[in-house]
Formats: sequence, C-alpha cells, structure tokens
Amino acid sequence: MTLKFEPVRLDDGAGALVVLDQTLLPSQTHYLRLCTLEEIWEAIRQLRVRGAPAIGIAAAYGAYLALRNNPDWGQGARPGWPAEVDSLFAAAKNRLANSRPTAVNLFWALDRMEGRLNALRSEAAGGASAGTAWRAAILAVLRDEAHAIRNEDEAACRSIGEHGLSLLKKGWGLLTHCNAGALATARYGTALAPIYLGQERGYGFKVFAGETRPLLQGARLTAWELGQAGVDLTLICDNMSSIVMKSGKVQAVLVGCDRVAANGDSANKIGTSGLAVLAAHYDIPFYIHAPLSTVDLACATGADIRIEERPPEEVTEAWYAKPMAPRGVKVYNPAFDVTDASLIGAIITERGIAYPPYGESLGRLSRA
Ligand code: MRU
Repeated sequence: MTLKFEPVRLDDGAGALVVLDQTLLPSQTHYLRLCTLEEIWEAIRQLRVRGAPAIGIAAAYGAYLALRNNPDWGQGARPGWPAEVDSLFAAAKNRLANSRPTAVNLFWALDRMEGRLNALRSEAAGGASAGTAWRAAILAVLRDEAHAIRNEDEAACRSIGEHGLSLLKKGWGLLTHCNAGALATARYGTALAPIYLGQERGYGFKVFAGETRPLLQGARLTAWELGQAGVDLTLICDNMSSIVMKSGKVQAVLVGCDRVAANGDSANKIGTSGLAVLAAHYDIPFYIHAPLSTVDLACATGADIRIEERPPEEVTEAWYAKPMAPRGVKVYNPAFDVTDASLIGAIITERGIAYPPYGESLGRLSRA
C-alpha cells in the first residue's frame, strides 16, 4: 500500500523529529521539525502527533533526541559510565510521560527505552571506555530501540489488518470513529488497516466516519487519509450513527483503542462507548483493534484507566468563527470513554483475535 505521508519519523542527521502537524489537516500538509524536549512535549500535548501508537513512537524518539541534542554529557577521556545520563534520561522520560495520560503506548514506549538504557548500564559495569565511547554507545542503543518500536508497530498494524479483514465480508458498510489510521500509527493504522487491505483486494467497503467532536479527528483526519486511498467514505455527525445503523447501512463498527484493561474494558476516543451501546442494540458487531502495546494487564478493569480531560475551549471555540457557547459556560470535556468488555465482540491484535472472556484470551496473546 502506498501512502503519501509519514506521521512521525526521525531525521537523525539533523537531530529532529519530523512530525506531520495533524492540527492543520486537511487544509495544510505541513511537517514540523522538532529538536527540543519541549517542542516534542508540546506536539504530543496539542495533538500535532496523536493516536496511541504514534504517541509512543514520538515519545521514544523524543527521549533519544533529548540526549542526542545535549552536548554536555559523555565528553572527554574520563572512563566509566557517564553519571549525568541517568538524570537527563529520567527528566526527559518524566516530562514526556506528562504530556497525555490515557494512551498506555506512551508509558510502554518510555519504559522500553529506559529498560534498554538500564541493560546497557549493567553490561557496562566495570568497563573502562572513555566518556565519548559511552556517549556513542548509549545514543546508538536508544536510537535503535526507538526505531524498533516504530518498525514493530508497522508490522503489528499490518497483521491487525489481516486478522481484522478475516471478520469482514465484501460490500459491507463499516462505521469508524476518531482516527485509528496510518496517521495514528507507524503505518496502516489499527481499525483502518483492514479497510486499506480490503481496498487493495476489491472488498468494496462503504465506510462511514463519525466526525468525532470536539477535535474532529474523523472529519479532518479519517476522511482525509481514506479519501487519499480512494475508499468510498461518507462523513456523518456523531449524532447520526443511530440512523445509519438502524437503516442497515452498517454491518460492523471498527474502532481503535488507547488502553485495553486486563478484563477487556477498552478506553478510546470519547463517543466510542455510545457507539458500542448502539451497536449492541442493533445487533451489529463491534470490534476493537489494538496492538499488544495498547493492552495494559496492570489495569484490572476500565475503572483503573485515567481519562484525560481537556480545555473547555476545545468544545466552545475550536473550529467556530466565533465562540458558539455563552462565555463562562460550564464545560465537561473528557477526551476518552471506556467501552465495557461485554459490548465488545472481539479485540483484534497482531498475534490474533481475542474473544471473550478477555481475561483469558488477552493474557494468552500477550504471553505468546
Ligand atoms: O486524542 P487522540 O486523537 O490521540 O485519540 C486517538 C484515539 O482515540 C484513537 O482511536 C486511538 O488512539 C487508536 S489510534 C490507532
């Protein structure tokens, strides 16, 4: 599948994270070059780069760049592990981990980077190399780990696409929410991966994208990326999902996920759980698509998942020429909700499809 964009990549020569600014889509395709920790933190916080896997990838590269672009450590001939690297890495990890709370991929990726650094430190114990040699070795392992996180996500999404497609039939109408596409991952997407594969293989899907208030990831991003791929796409407002389900236009609901708890409860973009309730009412299968990096077995149930709350202006002002609500009105703006496991027909991962009871099936796939 040819895609004309890459949401997040490293330009190592320039010491920059290159991010397609998703806040400007679909009117502008503009790539940002982010070199500092604060720039990368801001890009994640403001959803310039967004979607659970892409956030994890950006954070991994961010942690690498925080050390790569700091010349003040690992210089000179003093032998042994450069002690400053530990506090610099911890500060970078801490800052990036404070950008957004719900997608577990962010924390998973930062923990993986830290694990790699710790492993190198253990291997290094007693070594007598000079500071400059340690600097080169540390940067190499961190860069390689970040690349691995990115490349594994691409492979996982491809595999999710194959497993997901096995549940769908030619000519089906599919409803999706938010953007769980190539923009939100290394490539292909999660919930949109079966749609891309189906497009290549002549499945003739008719896709409905919910606009996804308040930040319009469905209208701005899913419509943009599926439109580029030539998919038959119809945009609907979020409150139109019931009519498309009731009138028989939709045979399955496909969504992504930010964190799956051990019992299968799944946090995804606000509005997802309402779609699941409707789908159950109309007897339409509802499928979650997530790489295993999104499964958090440390969260027993959805009640343990922290839900991000965002500024009221995203509801009252964003996208409107003038504020559309009375100044000072009380606003509740949760960015995610949790769909009960009982409403989820299957959770599609790169290692296969998990069916209820999820406590068993997710555990088995995670350990495979
Ligand atoms: O707030 P966002 O745009 O980062 O929310 C993204 C979603 O809810 C996606 O559905 C989820 O991260 C899965 S992306 C493959």
